[in-house]
Amino acid sequence: MPKQLTRLIIVFLIFISLFLVVRHFLVPESFYKFGHYRADALKDNEDHQVKYIDAAMCSACHTDIDSLKVSGPHKNINCQTCHGPGYLHVEDPSKNVLIKPTERAFCGKCHSLNAARACNIIKQQDIAQHNIDNKCVECHNPHQPQP
Ligand code: HEC
Ligand code: HEC
Ligand code: HEC
Ligand code: HEC
Repeated sequence: MPKQLTRLIIVFLIFISLFLVVRHFLVPESFYKFGHYRADALKDNEDHQVKYIDAAMCSACHTDIDSLKVSGPHKNINCQTCHGPGYLHVEDPSKNVLIKPTERAFCGKCHSLNAARACNIIKQQDIAQHNIDNKCVECHNPHQPQP
């Protein structure tokens, strides 16, 4: 065998064994158990705490608010969009009371003037001009806001 070939083979062998060593340390243990992914990822996802619940559950207890809401323009907005995640609240309503967002800026998240929004879909209001001395909810019931 020519000399330079022996050297080349040695260099290749060094690289291959380096690759095997590095691979041994980098590939997660559960990789390829079920397929070309880390099997433990399933477990990690399963461990995530549930935060939101089915919207129908809110309505089952708060029937008065639900029947008001379905008649108004906010009927398609999930309760949890405004009140935050409700999973823990449903487990124990008196201990885990939900937020009630009454500040003007909150309504402004959807209703403030913004040229980038389609104003024929969500009515816009210049919240720096429109009845600035009161909170929105003093005039508009958030569950049936039609004035
Ligand atoms: C198992 C019945 C039940 C379910 C389901 C339920 N709630 Fe409640 N909720 C209650 C009770 C009871 C209270 C009163 C708690 C207290 O003040 O002691 C309450 C209080 C609230 C309050 C605060 C009221 C206040 O005056 O401060 C809000 C807001 C609220 N719920 C929203 C929701 C939303 C949104 C959902 C759905 C994610 C929901 N609830 C699901 C029973 C329920
Ligand atoms: C557009 C946002 C919005 C949506 C959607 C919404 N709420 Fe509210 N909710 C509020 C605000 C803001 C308040 C506080 C009102 C106040 O203090 O005058 C409130 C108050 C409440 C209260 C306290 C009692 C009361 O009558 O003021 C309960 C209970 C409640 N909401 C439950 C619900 C449930 C259940 C749903 C879904 C069926 C829902 N909300 C949907 C914004 C919303
Ligand atoms: C998640 C977005 C969102 C939030 C937050 C929100 N709204 Fe709305 N609102 C809507 C949509 C969607 C409609 C139905 C389309 C329309 O009529 O503009 C609506 C309709 C309305 C209308 C009726 C407009 C009309 O004459 O048709 C009023 C008034 C209103 N909202 C006030 C409020 C107030 C007050 C708050 C704060 C408590 C609030 N909204 C929070 C999305 C939102
Ligand atoms: C003092 C009472 C009052 C307060 C506070 C108030 N509004 Fe109004 N709002 C009205 C009345 C009355 C109308 C109907 C006449 C008009 O368009 O001005 C109205 C109309 C609206 C409309 C419908 C506009 C349209 O084009 O049909 C929206 C959306 C609205 N308000 C959102 C808000 C928001 C968001 C806030 C808080 C930042 C707020 N309002 C605060 C009384 C109030």
